[in-house]
Amino acid sequence: MAATPSIDLLELVQQNQNPDTYRSLHWEGSFQDYLDIVAANPAVLRSAFERVYDMILSFGSEEYTENKEKIIRYKFFSDPLGGGRDAIYGLDRALMTLVNVFRSAAHRYGTERRVLLLHGPVGSSKSTIVRLLKRGLEHYCRTDEGVLYTFSWVLPGEQGEEEHPCPMHEEPFRLIPSSLRASALDRLIPEPRPGRPVLVEGELCPYCRFTLRELLTRYAGDWKKAMEHVRVQRLLLAEQDRVGIGTFQPKDEKNQDSTELTGDINYAKIALYGSDSDPRAFNFDGEFNVANRGIVEFIEVLKLDVAFLYDLLGASQEHSIKPKKFAQTDIDEVIIGHTNEPEYRKLQANEFMEALRDRTVKIDVPYCTRLSDEIQIYRKDYGEITSKHMAPHTIELAAMWAVLTRLEEPKNAKLTPIQKLKLYNGKTLPGFTEDNIRELRAEARREGLEGISPRYIQDKLSNALVDEEHTACVNPFMVLNELNRGLDHHSLIADDDTRKHYREMIALVKQEYEDIAKNEVQRAICADEEAIRQLCANYIDNIKAYTQKERVRNPYTNQDEEPNERLMRSIEEKIGIQESLKDDFRREIMNYIGALAIEGKTFSYATNERLHKALELKLFEDQKDTIKLKSLVSSVVDTETQAKIDVVKARMIENYGYCEICATDVLNYVASIFARGDVTAGE
Ligand SMILES: Nc1ncnc2c1ncn2[C@@H]1O[C@H](COP(=O)(O)OP(=O)(O)OP(=O)(O)O)[C@@H](O)[C@H]1O
Ligand SMILES: [Mg+2]
Repeated sequence: MAATPSIDLLELVQQNQNPDTYRSLHWEGSFQDYLDIVAANPAVLRSAFERVYDMILSFGSEEYTENKEKIIRYKFFSDPLGGGRDAIYGLDRALMTLVNVFRSAAHRYGTERRVLLLHGPVGSSKSTIVRLLKRGLEHYCRTDEGVLYTFSWVLPGEQGEEEHPCPMHEEPFRLIPSSLRASALDRLIPEPRPGRPVLVEGELCPYCRFTLRELLTRYAGDWKKAMEHVRVQRLLLAEQDRVGIGTFQPKDEKNQDSTELTGDINYAKIALYGSDSDPRAFNFDGEFNVANRGIVEFIEVLKLDVAFLYDLLGASQEHSIKPKKFAQTDIDEVIIGHTNEPEYRKLQANEFMEALRDRTVKIDVPYCTRLSDEIQIYRKDYGEITSKHMAPHTIELAAMWAVLTRLEEPKNAKLTPIQKLKLYNGKTLPGFTEDNIRELRAEARREGLEGISPRYIQDKLSNALVDEEHTACVNPFMVLNELNRGLDHHSLIADDDTRKHYREMIALVKQEYEDIAKNEVQRAICADEEAIRQLCANYIDNIKAYTQKERVRNPYTNQDEEPNERLMRSIEEKIGIQESLKDDFRREIMNYIGALAIEGKTFSYATNERLHKALELKLFEDQKDTIKLKSLVSSVVDTETQAKIDVVKARMIENYGYCEICATDVLNYVASIFARGDVTAGE
């Protein structure tokens, strides 16, 4: 008999709960057991900064050079844990800076005493970066490499033994008085690995201090006996459980209360313990308490009321917080805030900023300025949409516009914005070296800190996708129009000049699209491989004869003739080869073919990009009139033309990712360009 689906499901869940894994994650032991663990694996004592740093490195990294600059890409930021959902693109430099800050903090070079401030324009992925770090830490502490521990007190209660976890899930090693820790560590770890020092800083939290003192009193100072009440436990950081990971979001300024950060008196328990300064009558559940051992995130940190900002500065600089009615309480956590550009600028005038600026490490998180990176952001979201078709180049053009709005106008007047975008995107332009590109980047200091945010693009792409009025296919024009319309009420555009500039950039993108569409249609028209092959063979026969000063056999007349100069030139001109350089080009091709022959390979036009392009353009020129693209825009199309158009359309669908609708649209569009008559093939 088949099992019911619900029982199947229970089985499935059960099978995935490996009992060994469960036991290992919920390990418990005595304080002595813990000392054995420390001796075997001192890494359990790492600080929060060390752990975050090691977590990032544990995913590996790779190195590459960009414009002669060595850059390290940390794979962690490609979101391997989330299957790439939160992958960060194009910010390798900023992320390198961030990782360097963690590295220096892990070595206790000083940055561990700073607030890390991710600063950048709205929607530049600041929150995403912090989210990745939090998820990463949650994962890492569940691996063998990232394991860490805390402890509970086991005390006699009214109903037998009661377990009281350390409310701040502290490091058990803190139970050893700080004056004795160094020698304890020397004994436990006689030969520490070179590198970072093994160090456990800070004192117990008020609750554990109190409990330890009570026990010592009870046992007349016998610390070993007091330790028998300690149960060490593996610590699993989890934001959902409010363990080791906290988030603080300031509400409106009048409603901020420091208890949200440092915990609050538990009034119900005051009666029980008789005093409001008894740590048992306190909830150590402020965001700083909760996040101990891990990360606390401050969303829009500059909106924090000034009074609490000093709490924040103390927490980072002294690694301690001051709960109401209690002494300073030591914490060990990464404090990371973010703020966007307008907010930061507003506060720069504020003198309080001095204090903050001095105690923060500001890490700029700009927008992408490389087109290919920007495209990936949207591919991630819309790459697999199936409900509607998205015409080729739609995402690319939206991304192109976004990047254009962010680029500063080049000082070199000869460089157009589109050219600059292409240079940044790795394209080579005559007269521009890698050094020039570096100079361009250096002269544009604020580049990437202004312009259109990815969120705006994402919103408009979504709008276009859900728009009921339109057909089952979204094309670039729909999206560009949507982007344009939205500018009227874009809340972050302060002035009309900016709006005008953005609109000009839309016009540039449309122009660029004209070229792209034209090229693609041309290629589809000439994608007739047999025709290209024949043309190529013909061309090669001619240049062979030309370079060897021979004659060519005409297959029709069977007569030897002079090489066909007109044919050769009509192909070469397509890719701008001047008369004076034609000999070089022809020899180059012949040498290439010769070299291949020596290796026993035969030549194919497809391996020579320039020649391929030239042949396609020539073929297009020859065929354009037979296809009568222009006639597409007229309402009457004869059956012969229609058949040819259908072939082209089928190729566009097959080879370039168009659908029936957008293939028709783009053919009409390109036909209208040719009908306008102001362009020539291959322009
Ligand atoms: N460089 C990038 N790589 C990948 N995704 C990005 C990048 N920049 C922005 N995004 C995407 O843009 C959206 C906004 O990102 P996020 O919310 O992290 O930005 P933010 O900087 O926190 O914004 P805000 O300042 O408004 O809080 C997200 O969907 C994010 O994935
Ligand atoms: Mg954010």
